[in-house]
Amino acid sequence: MDVLNRRKGIEIGIPEMDRQHRSMMDGFEFLRRAPRRHASDVRELHSILGEVQAHFEWEESQMSKTQYPDKARHGIDHALQLSNLKDLLKYVEEGHERLDEDFFLACLGWTDRHIRSLDADFGLFLSDREAWDLQQELKAWEYEERFSGMAD
Ligand SMILES: [Fe+2]
Ligand SMILES: [Fe+2]
Repeated sequence: MDVLNRRKGIEIGIPEMDRQHRSMMDGFEFLRRAPRRHASDVRELHSILGEVQAHFEWEESQMSKTQYPDKARHGIDHALQLSNLKDLLKYVEEGHERLDEDFFLACLGWTDRHIRSLDADFGLFLSDREAWDLQQELKAWEYEERFSGMAD
């Protein structure tokens, strides 16, 4: 997926959230293309981890402020990604792992999927509460349908 295609559909419509997402994606993209050197890799990974952590904290504080009902599920996805990044930083620092293009492609892929699914849901909640309620009802209905189908 190239940069332009990756950009399509990740604008949530919440300006500060979109700004932070663009900055994270640009950071991963820049590092993906940069020449690999152990010392600068560690420094860059530290800085990107700080940015990702600050973004997750900011988003979760917005969820608390607005009493977002799906905060716990969303937070679990954040925690998982953060713990993956921290584990990797440890391996890189200990010299067991080198950062390569695949690593940054995986980060871009995860961030893209997270923005299009969980962040888009939260954006909808912030911008159009009625549409979000309707979406939740549809999800519950779909789940019930699937579950009742399994009981047959
Ligand atoms: Fe998020
Ligand atoms: Fe986000």
